[in-house]
Amino acid sequence: MKFILVTGSSGLIGSEAVEHFDRQGHRVHGIDNNMRAVFFGEPGDTTWNRDRLLKITKKFTHHDLDIRDRTRLDTLFRSIRFDLIVHCAAQPSHDKARDIPILDFEVNALGTLNLLEATRLHCPNAVFILLSTSKVYGDAPNELPLKELEMRWDYARPDDYQGINENCRIDRTLHSLFGASKASADLMAQEYGRYFGMKVGIFRGGCLTGPSHSGVELHGFLSYLVKVAISDTTYTVFGYKAKQVRDNIHSHDVVCAIEEFAANPRPGEVYNLGGGRENSISMLEAIAKVEQMTGKKMSWTYVDQNRIGDHICYISDLRKLKSHYPNWNITVSLDEIFHQIIVDHTQRLSSAGA
Ligand SMILES: NC(=O)c1ccc[n+]([C@@H]2O[C@H](COP(=O)([O-])OP(=O)(O)OC[C@H]3O[C@@H](n4cnc5c(N)ncnc54)[C@H](O)[C@@H]3O)[C@@H](O)[C@H]2O)c1
Repeated sequence: MKFILVTGSSGLIGSEAVEHFDRQGHRVHGIDNNMRAVFFGEPGDTTWNRDRLLKITKKFTHHDLDIRDRTRLDTLFRSIRFDLIVHCAAQPSHDKARDIPILDFEVNALGTLNLLEATRLHCPNAVFILLSTSKVYGDAPNELPLKELEMRWDYARPDDYQGINENCRIDRTLHSLFGASKASADLMAQEYGRYFGMKVGIFRGGCLTGPSHSGVELHGFLSYLVKVAISDTTYTVFGYKAKQVRDNIHSHDVVCAIEEFAANPRPGEVYNLGGGRENSISMLEAIAKVEQMTGKKMSWTYVDQNRIGDHICYISDLRKLKSHYPNWNITVSLDEIFHQIIVDHTQRLSSAGA
């Protein structure tokens, strides 16, 4: 049995990690102060997910704690010697960071440093996982030559077919403040791996998704899209002719990658982690798929101006991760992801109306 700390434990990835490791009989502690509701208002509230976890888990302990609070973190790390830290707490939105630059940096960069340092001081042999993001590459992926297809943008050169790999540069690009605060955390985490030799792994997420997301317009692409479709409201698409492409990975496959790394850590390594080409989809394709799977026409509008620094076509190249961890693969298909999110949102909507 291991002692595992999950930050952001009421969020999408954190809650999946809690469920997964609790099911295996480990002692899981979660940190979450429901800050998603501070960032995004009531629709971002994650207390429903915290309550769900407390009901279904066997040995899970929740701590209503802010990762910016070094004193309380220190007390927690003194009282429990963790074997694994899965750090998922974040201000996760590209666009939101523009309104709250200091809070964004404090949570994403300083919060990560607080956790890395607490780990170094109290449990330096623990494995530390940072959920980083494809936004650390800023808009550099947009420099690849693209071709326009009927429903999506795609890479023009056969060599780029597998998508963006970890050699893409992370500086001299337009990140958004969110991308810059996450890049700071990413670099700091690499340093704790490389400089201190700690077992730190960094996963740069594409679109991470699943039914436990509290999707809002500013964060949680498929979750929010389905929510809008089911609740008969209107979705707004920003730019790129609605042909922008994202690769989507189910939270279960994210946690399985974390588990593989934890079993055989490589200090300071970075991995791109998304759905890869097979789970990639454009905005137009996603709208068509939701319509086909719900049997309802979706209401959406188009704004010509794209989000600043937004990726046009982003597909995670998964070859490095698969070569280091050959037991890992994508197991949840895009259709299954859509199906799960639709079922979950339909249930949430009917229980809200009941
Ligand atoms: N979902 C995606 O598409 C995506 C893509 C790339 C990277 N990521 C990264 O993966 C990680 C997890 O993302 P997610 O989708 O699960 O996000 P999420 O918003 O669903 O979960 C994050 C949780 O952290 C909590 N939190 C925020 N600030 C906190 C603080 N100061 N102290 C304690 N708790 C705090 C929030 O209340 C929330 O429950 C984040 O680091 C995010 O940047 C996510």
